[in-house]
Amino acid sequence: MPSTVILGAQWGDEGKGKLVDYFCDRFDLVVRYQGGNNAGHTVQVGDTTYKMHLLPSGVIRGKRSLIASGVVVDPRVLKEEIDFFSGHRLPVGPDVLGVDFRAHIIMPWHTYWDAARESGTHKIGTTGRGIGPVYESKAARFGVRFEDLVNPHLLMTALERYYPIHARTLKEIFGVTKLPSLEATFKQYCTLGEHFKPYLCDASIEIDEALQRDKNVLFEGAQATLLDNNFGTYPYVTSSQPIAANAAASAGINPRLITRVEAVVKAYATRVGEGPFPTELTDALGERLRKRGNEYGTTTGRPRRVGWLDLTALELGNRLNGYDGMHITKLDVLAGINELKVCTAYQVGSKRITYFPTQREQVEKAVPVFETLDGFGEADWDDACHDSKARGFDALPKNARKYVEFIEKKSGLPVLSVSVGPGREQILLRGATP
Ligand code: IMP
Repeated sequence: MPSTVILGAQWGDEGKGKLVDYFCDRFDLVVRYQGGNNAGHTVQVGDTTYKMHLLPSGVIRGKRSLIASGVVVDPRVLKEEIDFFSGHRLPVGPDVLGVDFRAHIIMPWHTYWDAARESGTHKIGTTGRGIGPVYESKAARFGVRFEDLVNPHLLMTALERYYPIHARTLKEIFGVTKLPSLEATFKQYCTLGEHFKPYLCDASIEIDEALQRDKNVLFEGAQATLLDNNFGTYPYVTSSQPIAANAAASAGINPRLITRVEAVVKAYATRVGEGPFPTELTDALGERLRKRGNEYGTTTGRPRRVGWLDLTALELGNRLNGYDGMHITKLDVLAGINELKVCTAYQVGSKRITYFPTQREQVEKAVPVFETLDGFGEADWDDACHDSKARGFDALPKNARKYVEFIEKKSGLPVLSVSVGPGREQILLRGATP
């Protein structure tokens, strides 16, 4: 009963969607286990670019795909995504998609809360999709679940209970008066509930049964390790737990059933929103990486902050997630840079640490210690890329291979694949994959 978690090792946007799409063929079931439409997974197939915020990446290949109980769902967005796919001849019916009846619903007040809070002085730089507020409602046992959405009586009961409290506090604290009326919300969400009724499932049972029948299950992480609510750069984190252990908890399976964990690591680092980013490049080189890597948010369009790869962050992720190997993405973006830097330690006052600083005071004082490697030129890269389709990793320029091998050696983790462009065919396999 093999089951694999594929998750981001940095601050998100590592290219997980593309990897999951690529490896999907080997799996029978694909499961999204946390987060919501704050995620943005991009997959390019031929001339079409698919952007998914909620749908598991498995739907592109028509694989049975589940939204597990730990995911928070804006049903308006999910419906739009399903409609988009159907318009591109990829119908996502209840045979393809299942949504756990326990998954929480983003209600209009959650997005208003998110926006109102972010308009203040203490900003997290959220995606503004209501993710934090819906997880708060869930923890406070104040939430609306899919099982409520599809049942008009339960939906009305939830609205009568929660709507007045949210409407009043939004008005009194933030002066927000634009919240749609209770009646309008009921009408809109009732229609959505009707639409989603056939999709409802018990993902916990379905995954367990699949594993008992020796099916291959892929758990697709959203956001990433350094955005984890416990272990990321708190408070500049998301409100769920992207780490691998949470795949079992949020999907509702026995943790011993997870047999493999793979990291997706971008060849450099990016981050969206506020918060510490010790290897950040704020100069012309950073701008160049941003442009070449098209580092603009899939969800919000915001320019991403860009910096050097941080191996201490990878070590933190390995400690938390127990990686069996990693996939390095966007190596092509580094072509044409003379010297490549990789952070391998931090100087904190007189102390040198080889772990990622997460305590606030340490983060403030930490100065990255870099090792420098020779870069690879654009011309070499272009030649190699023609060849790499046939010859794979070995065709890459020597210094590109050296860069990958350096990461492998320093981290002690095998590199399973290297991606050198946005297309499916630009993933170069290396070593054993699931
Ligand atoms: P929230 O998840 O919208 O509450 O945002 C919290 C933090 O996580 C912000 O810094 C966001 O930019 C970041 N974030 C949330 N989802 C993603 C993602 O999928 N990729 C990258 N950053 C994300």
